Amino acid sequence: MTTATTTDLAIFGGPKTVTLSAPPWPCFTDAEIQFVADSMTKAAGDWRLACTAAPGGLAEDLEKKFCQVLGRKYAIATAGGGPALHIACLAAGIQLGDEVITSPYSWGQTCSCILQAGGIPIFADIDPDTLTIDPRKIEPLITPRTRAIVLVHIFGIPADLDPIMAIARKHNLIVIEDCAQAQGSLYKGKQVGSFGHFACFSIGSGKNLAAGDGGMLVVDDDRLHQMALLAGMHPARTGPQVTIPELRSKIDSLIYTYRINAFTAALALKQFERLDEMNSWRRKNAAHLRQALTGVPGIKPMPIPADRDPAWHIIPWSFVPEDFQGKVNRVQYLKALQAEGVPIGWSYVGNPINLRHIFQTKDWWSGHGYPWKANPRGDQIVYRKGDCPVAEKRCWELDLTLGGGPWMKDLRPFLEQIAEAFRKVTAAPQRLAEIKV
Ligand SMILES: Cc1ncc(COP(=O)(O)O)c(C=O)c1O
Repeated sequence: MTTATTTDLAIFGGPKTVTLSAPPWPCFTDAEIQFVADSMTKAAGDWRLACTAAPGGLAEDLEKKFCQVLGRKYAIATAGGGPALHIACLAAGIQLGDEVITSPYSWGQTCSCILQAGGIPIFADIDPDTLTIDPRKIEPLITPRTRAIVLVHIFGIPADLDPIMAIARKHNLIVIEDCAQAQGSLYKGKQVGSFGHFACFSIGSGKNLAAGDGGMLVVDDDRLHQMALLAGMHPARTGPQVTIPELRSKIDSLIYTYRINAFTAALALKQFERLDEMNSWRRKNAAHLRQALTGVPGIKPMPIPADRDPAWHIIPWSFVPEDFQGKVNRVQYLKALQAEGVPIGWSYVGNPINLRHIFQTKDWWSGHGYPWKANPRGDQIVYRKGDCPVAEKRCWELDLTLGGGPWMKDLRPFLEQIAEAFRKVTAAPQRLAEIKV
């Protein structure tokens, strides 16, 4: 029988170390709430302001803001990051059975947009340091049917954009950046979302800019922009904005209703005023914790290259079983820390996307076997364990997540408690090994 002592681990009945918590989230300031109320008052009786179907509505100011911040020519506000990604895939000209290279390590929507557009996802493994698509793994996967690369800056960590863009130029591929988790992250000093042919953002309530639900697509090329408008925007907008003669015949209501809610756009626009400050606290909190946990057994921070500056939507770490000579496993470690009040989780991705049920059964919404059946080599495209070993090892052995989410304020006392909990737990490795899993 195990009896608790005052210094015992909380999981065995000892005192809990972390008594503070992260702030509630999302949080809207009085100024943001007032701005939305004022926008509603202004828009009452004026459908063009209240509805984002036509140009000149409230969403246009948010679109201009994204263009200005990212140095882009065009922006299209959407109902979410997922809709922005789907529009980008359609506008990229992905046809039924085309191949699109992407990462197995993400939120599923980095990939569902490809399937939704009729494309076949082809998975390139990730870089073990940045957890983003490994450029060295892309080129061998390119075939005559490859049309695009959808990459993701997962957790806010920028993918290695320069070599990826070089591969895309060489093979005439469209690059779509999934920036849903990376608003404000920098690659070589430049904001992510300013590199690919398209970049897609989310402003859902779980994101760095948290405005309920919504998204944004940015693009520079005139034709790609007009194709994207045609895929998801109302004829009241495509009518005046689609000017390329051969595209005008596509102006129609045969579209997806993928536009943003005008008042979400107003909220996001106002919240933009404090985005840099929130992101700067995300960075400071992450740096503080990475420093505080250096040398603590069982965990190590990701070795982010010096040319990337993540805005840390989520902070990933690696479990180090060797620190316990293999006698403590990841679940025991996690359970002990969680009992101390540490908001630590294991793999965000859980199972690499390529190994999920849909890819094993090839049973997507477009009908059993499609889009694979639309490609002559579709039968040979199979998704097997061992195809992406780095992503597998991350998900099944190494992944830990701690931090991000609401960490956009000064949280140093809370972080100190977290570090203290790690010290307490790792000072008793024999007790950790006793935890039942
Ligand atoms: C990486 C990634 N891509 C796409 C999305 C989809 O964004 P939304 O929920 O705004 O549609 C998310 C949302 O969590 C995401 O994390």
